[in-house]
Amino acid sequence: MTLHVRTNQPNLENFWMPFTANRQFKAAPRLLSGAKGMYYTDIDGNEVLDGTSGLWCVNAGHGRTQIVEAVARQLGELDFAPTFQMGHPIVFSFAEKLAAIAPGGKDGGLDRVFFTGSGSESVDTALKIAIAYQRAIGQGTRTRIIGREKGYHGVGFGGISVGGLVNNRRVFPQIPADHMRHTLDMERNAFSRGLPAHGIELAEDLERLVALHGAETIAAVIVEPMAGSAGVILPPKGYLERLRAIADKHGILLIFDEVITGFGRLGTPFATDYFGVTPDLVTTAKGLTNGAIPMGAVFASRKVHDGLMTGPESQIELFHGYTYSGHPVACAAGLATLGIYAEEGLLTRGAELANYWQEALHSLKGLPHVADIRNLGLVGAIELRSRDGAPGARAYDVFVECFRKGLLIRVTGDIIALSPPLIVEKHQIDTIVSVIADTLKTAA
Ligand SMILES: Cc1ncc(COP(=O)(O)O)c(C=O)c1O
Repeated sequence: MTLHVRTNQPNLENFWMPFTANRQFKAAPRLLSGAKGMYYTDIDGNEVLDGTSGLWCVNAGHGRTQIVEAVARQLGELDFAPTFQMGHPIVFSFAEKLAAIAPGGKDGGLDRVFFTGSGSESVDTALKIAIAYQRAIGQGTRTRIIGREKGYHGVGFGGISVGGLVNNRRVFPQIPADHMRHTLDMERNAFSRGLPAHGIELAEDLERLVALHGAETIAAVIVEPMAGSAGVILPPKGYLERLRAIADKHGILLIFDEVITGFGRLGTPFATDYFGVTPDLVTTAKGLTNGAIPMGAVFASRKVHDGLMTGPESQIELFHGYTYSGHPVACAAGLATLGIYAEEGLLTRGAELANYWQEALHSLKGLPHVADIRNLGLVGAIELRSRDGAPGARAYDVFVECFRKGLLIRVTGDIIALSPPLIVEKHQIDTIVSVIADTLKTAA
């Protein structure tokens, strides 16, 4: 392996990079050293337009002064304090502020908040809460969780078990789970604008799995309301409503994994609000702190929360938690983030731009290799036809070339996924689309 050596480049040997082809990367690294607003700066001083909000998380844009100052202040005031049998004011204040904008609004009742350190931890927490809740209400045989093919729910053992991406699963043992079919149907739905028309019947897979396993063995069903990581897979019209109805009929809890869709991505505060379908648990992370400090949160309904608040008051109700659950510095980042979202109307700004975004993306139809274009809110995907015998290679080359041209996109397989910060301006949307168009025109 030949390492490119630049004078300002660190030694790349020791950091074992996550979800990365380490040897390929280290032979030709892409290193970012600064960020402000919509732009990164690479170590050579080039500007890179952020088409992906970092990793679906920097919803308010980079380098926000309010967050910087709140974090610095909090570090000086109270750097860390435990939340096991102890508390500190800021964690309660943050939970209260989150409750005020909880998924589903006031009527949704999802206003009990359990803090974690990441999306993966939020998912495993929600799965454990669901199983513990069922047991607490006398349904202790309900330990199986239903997920969905192509689902991504992080990398904990719970998350990979309910997830449906083979590379994340094949090497590792799993907890009891089964899977509904995914909802990607390019034959019937390619180039849909917004939600696809076909596929509501796929929700009946939950009925099938109930018939196969018995409802009394199933604690919960978890889905991303819009699947992000697998390449932006949208729910067909009416699908989530149907899933809610089937889950209710069988006493199965419904969990929405909103790690990506939470905090304004679809033009509403949460996907729960966008679809008007209220689950029992909602997992979040990423935009919760604008990506500045790692943190996740699970929103639980009062029904689920109160179902576990039983037994003697001296008893710990849920044997679960993390050292960093409700970390004061993360709470400070989160409170400042919510402040920015409110002041700048960012949780609904996506709705104002969604149409412009949609038309811009769909202008790529007809360019070489484009097999499908999907969009919702401020999310988009361009699915490319794969090169013969080399799945993923074409999109990877497009990714590298876009970066060279000053645009950060994300690719998964041969799908380009886009999710710019919610502060994006129309001219930046135009740039994103024109850089991708130019790249596709010359892509092999
Ligand atoms: C829907 C969903 N759930 C969970 C996760 C895992 O989050 P994290 O990487 O913070 O553990 C992700 C990350 O992309 C996600 O998209």
